[in-house]
Amino acid sequence: MVLACYLTLTALSALVLGKPLARSLQVHEFQETVPTGYKLVGPASSDKVLSLRIGLVQNNVNGLVDALYNISAPTSVDYGKYLSQAEVNAYMAPTSETVSAVNSWLSENGLNATAISSAGDWLAINVPVSMANDLLGANFSVYLQTRTGEQIVRTLSYSIPTDLNGHIDFVHPTITFAGGSRSSPVVQYIGSADAIRNASPSANVTAACYLENTPVSDPWVFPTCIQALYGIPATPATVTSNYLGVVEYEGNWANRDDLKAFLGEFRPDMNSSTTYAFQSIDNGTDSQNITEAGAEADLDIEYTVGLATGVPVTLISTGGEFPGALLDAAATLLNESSPPQVLSSSWGYNEDQVSKKFAYALCNAYAGLGARGVSIIYSSGDGGVSGNHYPEETCTSFVPQFPSGCPFVTSVGATTGLPTESAASFTSGGFSNYWSRPAYQDTAVTEYLSILGSNNTGLYNASGRGFPDISAYGVNFETIGMGDLLLASGTSCAAPTFASIVALLNDRLLAAGKPVLGFLNPLLYSKGVSGFTDILTGNNLACANYTTGFYATQGWDPLTGLGTPIFPNLQEILGL
Ligand SMILES: *[C@@H]1O[C@H](CO)[C@@H](O)[C@H](O)[C@H]1NC(C)=O
Ligand SMILES: *[C@@H]1O[C@H](CO)[C@@H](O)[C@H](O)[C@H]1NC(C)=O
Ligand SMILES: *[C@@H]1O[C@H](CO)[C@@H](O)[C@H](O)[C@H]1NC(C)=O
Ligand SMILES: *[C@@H]1O[C@H](CO)[C@@H](O)[C@H](O)[C@H]1NC(C)=O
Ligand SMILES: *[C@@H]1O[C@H](CO)[C@@H](O)[C@H](O)[C@H]1NC(C)=O
Ligand SMILES: *[C@@H]1O[C@H](CO)[C@@H](O)[C@H](O)[C@H]1NC(C)=O
Ligand SMILES: *[C@@H]1O[C@H](CO)[C@@H](O)[C@H](O)[C@H]1NC(C)=O
Ligand SMILES: *[C@@H]1O[C@H](CO)[C@@H](O)[C@H](O)[C@H]1NC(C)=O
Ligand SMILES: *[C@@H]1O[C@H](CO)[C@@H](O)[C@H](O)[C@H]1NC(C)=O
Ligand SMILES: *[C@@H]1O[C@H](CO)[C@@H](O)[C@H](O)[C@H]1NC(C)=O
Ligand SMILES: *[C@@H]1O[C@H](CO)[C@@H](O)[C@H](O)[C@H]1NC(C)=O
Repeated sequence: MVLACYLTLTALSALVLGKPLARSLQVHEFQETVPTGYKLVGPASSDKVLSLRIGLVQNNVNGLVDALYNISAPTSVDYGKYLSQAEVNAYMAPTSETVSAVNSWLSENGLNATAISSAGDWLAINVPVSMANDLLGANFSVYLQTRTGEQIVRTLSYSIPTDLNGHIDFVHPTITFAGGSRSSPVVQYIGSADAIRNASPSANVTAACYLENTPVSDPWVFPTCIQALYGIPATPATVTSNYLGVVEYEGNWANRDDLKAFLGEFRPDMNSSTTYAFQSIDNGTDSQNITEAGAEADLDIEYTVGLATGVPVTLISTGGEFPGALLDAAATLLNESSPPQVLSSSWGYNEDQVSKKFAYALCNAYAGLGARGVSIIYSSGDGGVSGNHYPEETCTSFVPQFPSGCPFVTSVGATTGLPTESAASFTSGGFSNYWSRPAYQDTAVTEYLSILGSNNTGLYNASGRGFPDISAYGVNFETIGMGDLLLASGTSCAAPTFASIVALLNDRLLAAGKPVLGFLNPLLYSKGVSGFTDILTGNNLACANYTTGFYATQGWDPLTGLGTPIFPNLQEILGL
């Protein structure tokens, strides 16, 4: 005991008096070349302050995943027995050895990191470029995203001290470029909001959806039509502790007057003053200047408040740079005593635009939220099998989407056509190169691959996690944006639609004294299958149309997953 104390003191005084020891570095992550779509501008100014994140190695991710599956498999004795914040933290926390090893390296350099996750695995430090270059053996430079003109500071490679290997998981933002390349709905301007006909609820899809001046080929849809299509009840939710979170990034916020106008037009049976709560993460803002309303946020809010009747909705606006903001948002929610039971997000990237370490860390955070009872719902992407590539670009293999490839999220593809749906041609789907196929979808995906035969061989990774898991309507959603009537299309329409269904089911479950749905996939692929209409037709497109992508088939397929939801069947499956 005494001896150990002396050793610590001696080590400390050496640090205080002497110069920091130069540590030997080893390359930790790198990019071979500047990622497609970016151009080197030049060195970053040496005194520019970088807001860096350090992800520490968590002590027991396998245990967390094991616990998550125990809680989520409908046949498990632990089904629905969600973990507390402290229990999740116990898996996600770094060891004390990791914490002190990393802290002593930082303090040796006069730095003091702030833990921004309650498990202590996600640290923030502000460091000037010159120092970051020395510390990390990096070359932070300015890169231009040619399509948007946006400039970001990144490095093609960075190192960590050799003795911190096994303690530091990754540093961000470093080699993950992916600035400003999220998918977003295609929005078409229709005209003034006064032009809308009277929407009236009906259980008959044709009667509910084909109103007087609805185009027959690509009908315009709205909440009462979607309610008829999927049998979604209009009866208000009753459980006030149940809520739905819609998370937005990069200053995309919704407008309350747009929502009010929307509800007035499309949910005449609801109180049009029904609104949403607002939560800011990383200084996320909430401009209510109507000319600054975001198409994505307006769509997400209108189709959650407008479909999840009576479920409290919170718009979570996250500032900070993308995609680091994704992890900041997950860390903030993990630190809440009552995170939303459903989280809907329509933001995503090509999987290969995000470093594997970053991708795994975010996916693990979603496992943590799943273990807390949160359903994480993502749109599958709008670029068919070519991801966020542009039509004129060629691609040599199909491009999986992130975070849809994470096995702990429920990925939602898009359909079109009324009353019989088929896969929308833009819907993204395929197979991850980062995550292997999880057991819950083994039977479904194996069956699909045997039907697929030799089609597309070599263009996709047959051992990867297949996505999407399910789908929902995604074409010509009437929305009100900036006071005008707009039509939105994309998997961005499908995600909030399905999130609303999950939130309504949670309301009924809680009212019956049962646990919420949490991580959905093990349920969906087992007894949940009969809760979906199998989509049998449609195919998606690939880069420059050099090939078609996948075709919808009987059973699961990588365009529409298990199919589109049937609310009454899901209710019955859940014993409601
Ligand atoms: C660092 O990057 C700059 C461009 O930003 C380049 O000119 C320079 O050669 C690089 N330095 C090293 C050591 O690679
Ligand atoms: C998961 O369930 C199995 C079987 O009941 C049990 O042995 C294991 O300890 C559980 N794991 C966790 C992390 O709860
Ligand atoms: C780091 O900062 C925190 C407060 O932000 C402070 O409590 C702590 O003493 C600091 N540690 C060092 C080593 O400076
Ligand atoms: C977690 O939340 C608590 C209370 O809401 C807050 O005081 C604390 O700063 C948060 N911790 C982190 C790391 O954000
Ligand atoms: C549904 O509504 C359409 C259009 O109003 C009508 O032609 C059709 O007969 C109705 N179907 C049923 C089953 O009531
Ligand atoms: C409608 O909602 C608003 C805001 O919650 C509330 O002030 C108002 O009383 C409600 N109106 C009716 C008729 O319930
Ligand atoms: C939020 O704003 C405050 C005040 O301007 C600033 O100190 C802080 O660094 C910002 N936080 C983030 C995550 O950008
Ligand atoms: C609203 O936003 C627009 C566009 O950013 C801006 O030009 C206008 O000045 C803003 N209006 C107000 C009242 O702030
Ligand atoms: C295919 O997916 C597996 C994970 O299932 C991965 O290990 C492998 O690297 C992937 N192949 C390619 C070419 O990315
Ligand atoms: C295989 O590709 C052909 C077109 O080349 C298509 O007609 C067929 O439906 C595809 N089969 C499957 C199962 O995707
Ligand atoms: C690919 O096909 C789509 C749909 O048919 C069409 O809109 C697009 O212009 C085509 N792109 C190219 C590069 O031919």
